[in-house]
Amino acid sequence: MTTQGSPTSQGNNLDRWYGSYAQRTSGLAASEVRALFAVASRPEVVSLAGGMPFVSALPQDLVVGAMDRVMREQGAVALQYGSGQGVPALREQILDVMALEGISGSADDVVVTTGSQHALELFSKLFIDPGDVVLAEGPSYVTALVIFRSYQAEVDHVPMDEHGLIPEALREHIARLKSAGRKVKFLYTVPTFHNPAGVTLSWERRLEILEIARANDILVLEDNPYGLLYFGEKPPAAMRSVEREGVVYLGTFSKTLAPGFRVGWALAPHAIREKLILANEAAVLSPSSFTQLVVSEYLRDADWRAQIDTFRGVYRERKETMIGALNEYLPELTWTNPNGGFYVWLTLPSHLDSKAMLPRAVTELVAYTPGTAFYADGNGRQNIRLSFCYPTPERIRVGIRRLAAVINGELDLLDTFAGTGSLSAVRRDRSSASLPTDLQ
Ligand SMILES: Cc1ncc(COP(=O)(O)O)c(C=O)c1O
Repeated sequence: MTTQGSPTSQGNNLDRWYGSYAQRTSGLAASEVRALFAVASRPEVVSLAGGMPFVSALPQDLVVGAMDRVMREQGAVALQYGSGQGVPALREQILDVMALEGISGSADDVVVTTGSQHALELFSKLFIDPGDVVLAEGPSYVTALVIFRSYQAEVDHVPMDEHGLIPEALREHIARLKSAGRKVKFLYTVPTFHNPAGVTLSWERRLEILEIARANDILVLEDNPYGLLYFGEKPPAAMRSVEREGVVYLGTFSKTLAPGFRVGWALAPHAIREKLILANEAAVLSPSSFTQLVVSEYLRDADWRAQIDTFRGVYRERKETMIGALNEYLPELTWTNPNGGFYVWLTLPSHLDSKAMLPRAVTELVAYTPGTAFYADGNGRQNIRLSFCYPTPERIRVGIRRLAAVINGELDLLDTFAGTGSLSAVRRDRSSASLPTDLQ
């Protein structure tokens, strides 16, 4: 026993209860993205780090009108607890949203969650036992990795190229894990406008990967926040449009409306849906009735498809500005050129380390997310995720110009001290970039 005020035997001066946390919290270190937010939010810093949607492109009157009508017409319902599955009318409307990506289903199989992040959490709670293996693209969405780690899963990254996850690599990873006697619980994938890589899984590969998953009895968790934010041609239909029983699909209003509502959803095979509802109730009793009803009213009253077109236009212009600035200021490097979504994945010359370079970049008033944030295994030092969603085109150009100055400064240093930073070395690097690019 310890007396009040004195540390436990495993405690320390900073945290008296250090020794009492559950083992699974060891994965709950602040992510690189989170640690960055504090610094990068200073106005003089151009942040190409966070993935915040540009909500100013949404007319506030539309939201105010929806809120007003909800409170006048259904105020008592909006202020009350709701069901653990979500508001029925909204679940019907979610079917219309998913139909745009080729998905048909029943509102009965939709579970509304507090953002799709919460659906990721609930799904992980249902499926991961300590020591299980989760397959995921390399790189992968940082906050999914945090959740998988918190449930003590081991993440096995499967490589991608410019067409997304590589089926042959997936086969090899599964075979290796099986022969080592490991239990693969599911494949987590962001097939469309990947966060952070910006690439999209081709239609042929979607079919092949579903076939591999089926043959190996592996559930697929398809996370699709960005699919409707395409800049040119529509991307291939969702994997869930092909396979009902083997796919749990996650969607969200965070990118096509606003993240502040915290309304997302899961579409799941019936039995899994049942468990998700129970887990949702255990976690939050019910998702917010108020925000669900406001989103539902917005979808009923506003031209939400036109609003998505507006977002597409905003993000297309920003993406083109970023690619133009990269071509102008960093023509020796390689990057992905996304057809939608929020992110460009930049590959540095192999001698540079994106994580080590970050403090210097912030000193030069530009912030980015180092590639290491998106790997559970320490990889990614040669990569940077650049977000074009939030800063204005003018700021994006300034940010890339500053980034180029930082990168060139590092290369000059290397050249001076080790003779490895010359542009010819950079050019040699291009042939060995870790994620081939379809651009320039
Ligand atoms: C791939 C991916 N999944 C899930 C989320 C979480 O979105 P939300 O919880 O806002 O729906 C994000 C947010 O950036 C994301 O990029």
